[in-house]
Amino acid sequence: MSFYTKRSILFSGIIVFFLTSCDFGSPKPQKPAAIVKKDTVAAKAEIWQIPDTNTIPNDEFGAMIRYGRDLVLNTAYYIGPEGKVSKNLGNKMNCTNCHLEAGTKPYAFNYFSSHARYPQYRSREDKILTLADRVNNCIERPHSGKPLKLDSKEMVAIVSYMKWLSQDVPVNQHVEGDSPLKIELPERATDPVKGEAVYKRECMSCHGADGEGKMRADNVCYEYPPLWGMKSYQPGSSMHRVVKAAAFIYANMPNKLSSYDKPKLTIEEAFDVAAFMNDDRIHKRPFNNGAVNYPNIKTKPLDYGTGPFVDSFPDLQHKFGPWKPILEYREKNNLPVKF
Ligand code: HEC
Ligand code: HEC
Repeated sequence: MSFYTKRSILFSGIIVFFLTSCDFGSPKPQKPAAIVKKDTVAAKAEIWQIPDTNTIPNDEFGAMIRYGRDLVLNTAYYIGPEGKVSKNLGNKMNCTNCHLEAGTKPYAFNYFSSHARYPQYRSREDKILTLADRVNNCIERPHSGKPLKLDSKEMVAIVSYMKWLSQDVPVNQHVEGDSPLKIELPERATDPVKGEAVYKRECMSCHGADGEGKMRADNVCYEYPPLWGMKSYQPGSSMHRVVKAAAFIYANMPNKLSSYDKPKLTIEEAFDVAAFMNDDRIHKRPFNNGAVNYPNIKTKPLDYGTGPFVDSFPDLQHKFGPWKPILEYREKNNLPVKF
């Protein structure tokens, strides 16, 4: 079955880090690592444990790893619109705003296994991309920026940090916790109106009355990053897809008050608020800067908001659901099923 299934098992001994958006905590003791297939049942698996930051070597390579981690945490400071080193980014978001805790939080778009899985085929470009190309993807959108030079110190540092993080992961393997949390798809269409009520109750206090977030006092990056508006991520960013955003929100938001094993929202609330956040009929976003989006419709994700698709369901249903009829139709007709 390709339906998303809810993980209901609580994990004991999971370490939850409490961090500020531009800071990173000290390492915690390691547990034995588990390498699992992507669809392994959560109950049998242990969350992947990353290496201890104390093991970053004290040599040139170690210095690059540290700089890379610093760039992920303080991206805007270094390469933002007023960056100290360069001005690559078009907005003041940091990588860690979405890749939480410098890309080390389970089910929070982490980099546990990233370095072990590239180069790989990417459907958005319909091409094989290296990890550095993939980093530039996120710089182009969500950050609305200009790609880093592949041989720049900053790119080498970010990739070095990712290599260090993935050092124990065998080539081409996924590890538990590295993918978005699998949550049950709703039977109905997601509902931006209900999502607005969830937003007002659970999100607005930090992300603002109009999703604009809150800039940190020093104006370098956000205390609470924007969820929509011209300073937030673009259409075509993965966060703009309702299923992906819902899985992230369910496992991680409200920030620091929820985790995949202690979510604060129900799955339905997460879907509805993701629909509200990503509803372009009511919220503005920066224009797509001309980047390619899924030229091969066979590998276009099912919840992408703009056709054409291999089926004739309307664009709005692809974006907001209900997705199950699309899935069933595709399975019956031997068409690709992919989120
Ligand atoms: C607005 C949110 C957001 C921001 C900001 C962001 N990303 Fe991403 N990034 C994503 C999402 C969503 C994905 C897709 C994750 C998935 O599908 O599992 C992703 C994927 C990636 C991947 C691929 C990971 C893998 O294992 O396949 C890399 C590498 C990456 N981002 C690097 C960066 C870097 C470096 C920055 C900062 C310069 C950054 N991202 C900023 C949301 C963001
Ligand atoms: C207690 C404050 C707080 C609350 C409440 C909160 N968030 Fe967040 N949110 C944050 C912070 C801080 C980050 C960035 C985390 C970091 O950089 O470490 C974030 C990041 C995000 C991101 C990724 C970055 C971006 O700007 O796109 C999304 C999406 C998001 N929150 C959605 C939500 C939704 C939806 C809710 C309500 C269900 C919510 N948040 C509630 C503080 C909060």
